[in-house]
Amino acid sequence: MKRNMWGSRLGFVLAAIGSAIGLGNIWRFPYLCYENGGGAFLIPYLIALFTAGIPLLILEFGVGHERIGSAPLAFRKIDKKWEWLGWWPLLFTMFGIVLYYSVVIAWCIDFLFYSVKLSWGADAEAFFFKQFLQLSSGPTEISTIRTPILFGLLGVWSLTWVIIMRGVSKGVELANMIFMPLLFVLTLALVFWSLSLEGAMTGIAAYLKPDFTKLTDPNVWVSAYGQIFFTLSLGFGIMITYASYMPEKSNMTGSALITALVNSGFSLVSGFGVFSILGFMATTQQVPVDEVVKESIGLAFIVYPKAISMIGDFGPMFGMLFFLSLTVAGVSSAISIVEAFVSGVEDKFSINRKMLATVLCFFGFTGGVIFTTNGGLFWLDIVDHFINNYGLVLAGILECIVVGWFFNLDQIRKHLNKVSKIQLGPWWSWIIKLFLPLSLSVILLNQLVRELSTPYGGYTWASLIGIGWSWIVISFLVAFILAAQPWRTNNHLEKGRGDEL
Ligand code: PFF
Repeated sequence: MKRNMWGSRLGFVLAAIGSAIGLGNIWRFPYLCYENGGGAFLIPYLIALFTAGIPLLILEFGVGHERIGSAPLAFRKIDKKWEWLGWWPLLFTMFGIVLYYSVVIAWCIDFLFYSVKLSWGADAEAFFFKQFLQLSSGPTEISTIRTPILFGLLGVWSLTWVIIMRGVSKGVELANMIFMPLLFVLTLALVFWSLSLEGAMTGIAAYLKPDFTKLTDPNVWVSAYGQIFFTLSLGFGIMITYASYMPEKSNMTGSALITALVNSGFSLVSGFGVFSILGFMATTQQVPVDEVVKESIGLAFIVYPKAISMIGDFGPMFGMLFFLSLTVAGVSSAISIVEAFVSGVEDKFSINRKMLATVLCFFGFTGGVIFTTNGGLFWLDIVDHFINNYGLVLAGILECIVVGWFFNLDQIRKHLNKVSKIQLGPWWSWIIKLFLPLSLSVILLNQLVRELSTPYGGYTWASLIGIGWSWIVISFLVAFILAAQPWRTNNHLEKGRGDEL
């Protein structure tokens, strides 16, 4: 079967950036920075970027490009017994992360409309929890589906469906060619606007003021590594697939570097916008910045709405731009995992893309309904925690071990060096073979031990096992079942690019 291809290198890099830049960059990074030592956090963050993020992104690009396959096909071409490792991350991301991630994008779409009339009124917090989510008291208390969220979700999946149906170059690539420049313009506009507000500098000072004592806290380092994984979409199986759509002669190592640097640069810049707004709010209310600061959901759906109401005549416009930028960043990440999944199934079972896209988007939409209920926020919190902290990191460790120890890693390195300008020395192989499996295992075990004594988020063990762990275990089993199915194509018999060397 002829492989789908990107139309240009720019298209590929923008698609990879589109996957990487998502909700995580805008609402998670600035808060992490603030909480973990301000400017000093940039030290562990940059160390994590250079010792884990970039080497692993290069590995994923290398595996996809050298083996020429989506994650399942690439691992199958490494060895029959590793095919499941290609399916597993696709499954927990497609049926875990994206299900709730698309619901958060649905919230952004709803808030885009609420911005027009500042519908949250004087109490944005009560509006969000009581009126919008109608939040229940726990994950098992579910009584209604929130229609505005359901409609938003329908919008997200319809858009995803249209993009995926159109294929790799006319769908995913084209969408990112439009979305990414749009996102950069929106973000720059918002950042400059925010910087011009009164009190912005107070916020920026809180964002970046370095507190070097934090660097001795191991949790700060764990946060830095965790963020790098999520933000670069590593361990999802996406970057492997995207790289496999590149033609033979393509500067892969350079592309990995550009993707990683643009992604982190974007986070840093959006941080300026976020903290200017926080400084503005703090100044307007005459309180210190630490009283207004909130992370993720609280930041976007409570603090921002409050600030938007304070901006004055142009508040609605500011709100619409902000929620539009979140929507664009989110959708370009969501389509990347659906594409990676479609590609895996296409490679193995040769099922028609249009039909696959339809079925997957339908499941994505219906699977997301649980998160649109009044107990949805709890589900979101648990699934997010388990997949991000355990699933992704474990997938990353296994990738390094399998490619590093059960395959000829030098073949990937030689291939990358042959096609790229930047040359990787043996140091890269040692990062993959030793440093990453060891350091990531320490992070994983540290987390596990901590949570065995104090269960995450104060939830009951039943909820954590039933919702969190089961998600990981079930996807693991399904991955084995899929890997055990016979191949309906001959793709797995084809050679990798480096086999000819
Ligand atoms: N890199 C994305 C972010 O930082 O928000 C994470 C992501 C989520 C990627 C969901 C892809 C995806 F389907």
